[in-house]
Amino acid sequence: LKDTALTEIEQANSKQELNQVKVKYLGKKGPITEILRGMGSLSKEERPLIGKLANEIREEIAKLINEKEETIAQKALEERLKQETIDVTLPGKKVLKGNRHPLTRVIEEIEDIFIGMGFEIAEGPEVESDYYNFEALNLPKEHPARDMQDSFYITEEVLMRTHTSPVQIRTMKSKNGIGPVKIICPGKVYRRDDDDATHSHQFTQIEGLVVDEHITMSDLKGVLLNFAKKMYGEKAKIRLRPSFFPFTEPSAEVDVSCMMCGGEGCRVCKNTGWIEILGAGMVHPRVLEMSGFDPERYTGFAFGMGVERIAMLKYGIEDIRHFYTNDLRFLEQFKRM
Ligand code: PHE
Repeated sequence: LKDTALTEIEQANSKQELNQVKVKYLGKKGPITEILRGMGSLSKEERPLIGKLANEIREEIAKLINEKEETIAQKALEERLKQETIDVTLPGKKVLKGNRHPLTRVIEEIEDIFIGMGFEIAEGPEVESDYYNFEALNLPKEHPARDMQDSFYITEEVLMRTHTSPVQIRTMKSKNGIGPVKIICPGKVYRRDDDDATHSHQFTQIEGLVVDEHITMSDLKGVLLNFAKKMYGEKAKIRLRPSFFPFTEPSAEVDVSCMMCGGEGCRVCKNTGWIEILGAGMVHPRVLEMSGFDPERYTGFAFGMGVERIAMLKYGIEDIRHFYTNDLRFLEQFKRM
């Protein structure tokens, strides 16, 4: 009995098989239980001998089954660990990394330059009222300058903003006539242009505004010169040409020395050595007044630039549409910059 039990334990290869052996030998209907149950029919002398032997055999079988159980569990564990091993020396899969859009990058670069000069960033709605977009900027309804800005109207009184100047009005009004104001306003603007290499019906502007006591045109020039040097290099120069905007007086177009030829004359600057980058001027007293600032006490300057144009000049991009068509061959060139 003992020997057959031992071979069967030996041969059992799984938990289930071993369990069957256990039931077979140690269970209620197994041979040992039967022997112990039949003790009554034995003689007085035989009883302790047979009893002892049967118990010894039962214990031995139980012990062996326990040992075997452990071996099987151990084996199962090893098997599982083997299946779950990770080879840490295998080369990993390359994660495709994107990069920030060149326009975002230039916006942030410009923002950083002005933040460095103490400006704050202000934002406002892209859907704007006629009042903030035109009226409060000294462009009354019949003003011919409104023809210059062919606009996307939503209703007669509401339109897609044509510049970020309305943000400057909103900011001034929030100050209750008390300076200083020192902000730049980055954001999308909309004009009814046919898209081509240099025009887009939607583009990005950054406008700036400083209002305080004793602000003069030399402050404007200093801020813009510093901006040009930070943006295009220490050698950059600027020049102001007289111009006209209804909301500034006097007004100027601002040129930067051509960064391609350093003033020698080339295709980019059409041999003039200069490239126009922004419009600027001293805030018109009427605009200050309409926004709640006393023009006898406060003066200010404002400027506005197209970010795409600044980026195109900086990186030698020839078509503004590249910014919006999401061609990866274009976008990936800015990966490591
Ligand atoms: N708002 C003008 C534009 O959209 C730019 C500008 C801003 C000019 C401030 C002068 C002063 O073209």
